[in-house]
Amino acid sequence: MIDFQDRVAVVTGAGGGLGRAHALLLASRGAAVVVNDLGGSVHGEGASSSAADDVVAEIRESGGEAVAEYSSVATPDGGAAIVAKALDDYGRIDIVVNNAGILRDRSFANMDWIELNTVLDVHLRGAFYVTQPAFRYMKEAKYGRIVMTSSGAGLFGNFGQGNYGAAKAGLVGLMNVLKLEGAKYNIKVNAIAPIAHTRMTEQVLEEMADCFDPESVAPAVGYLCSEECEYTGDIWSVGGGSVSRIFIGLCDGYFQHPDREGPLTIDDVADNLNLIRSEDGYLVPFSSEDEFAKLGPRLMG
Ligand code: NAI
Repeated sequence: MIDFQDRVAVVTGAGGGLGRAHALLLASRGAAVVVNDLGGSVHGEGASSSAADDVVAEIRESGGEAVAEYSSVATPDGGAAIVAKALDDYGRIDIVVNNAGILRDRSFANMDWIELNTVLDVHLRGAFYVTQPAFRYMKEAKYGRIVMTSSGAGLFGNFGQGNYGAAKAGLVGLMNVLKLEGAKYNIKVNAIAPIAHTRMTEQVLEEMADCFDPESVAPAVGYLCSEECEYTGDIWSVGGGSVSRIFIGLCDGYFQHPDREGPLTIDDVADNLNLIRSEDGYLVPFSSEDEFAKLGPRLMG
């Protein structure tokens, strides 16, 4: 059985919704959990310690180990304090689940910069602020498991969520780099794109809401946080009992050798759209080196 005995986890935004489910699952399998939550509204207004406190009480009542932490992930000091809590109270940090989030939905033409920055600060910069101090510790310890909470809104698109979608897709960019920088230290960095009925999706899931409880997302996060997880750089779509990989594929495309067949023209592009856009024969690059590795032999061959 997968367990987290002697492991210490930080789950941000764990005072409700998905984060609560992740924290409860990790604690039920033996992890000591730092339950971070600012306790504000879904739009990121206000603060309260009760959200984190309630989840800690729930964990302790079922015999688990947890401690509450109330900082905002959205500042460097907040991120440092969250990680310091794990180190001060439990002496180590093995797992970070970047989960805290808010919404400030607005169509792009109407969006103001406060709506942009507030969302980037929590989702994207927040993941930097929490993950960096943890990553430094994990490098020394030569062990770490990090999960980013991305979203279909960024990976596939969702009307009215330019700020949120960009932040969520940005997390995948950070993951792709951290998976390389963490590789030789046994730090695995993965992402989920969840679907769950929480206060954030109150208006969205409608009659399907009951099918998407947060508890059916937590097992995938739990696996990605486990020592057993050998994958890094994966993105999993998770919700309603389904877990499936999402990937970015590089298709075979159209190639015209510049020396032998002449430099590519705008007309060559227009004439070869079927090949350029064909989904046949794709590869899934692990890094940008793989993209070059595909091109090199074509040019040199
Ligand atoms: P939620 O609103 O129930 O949970 C988010 C939690 O983050 C709240 O408890 C909130 O107090 C906390 N939080 C907000 N700002 C914070 C800050 N600055 N510092 C610390 N804590 C903060 O919503 P839900 O659905 O559980 O969202 C969890 C994550 O999953 C979010 O990142 C969200 O964007 C993401 N997500 C959720 C989806 C869904 O279907 N519910 C879909 C795709 C992504």
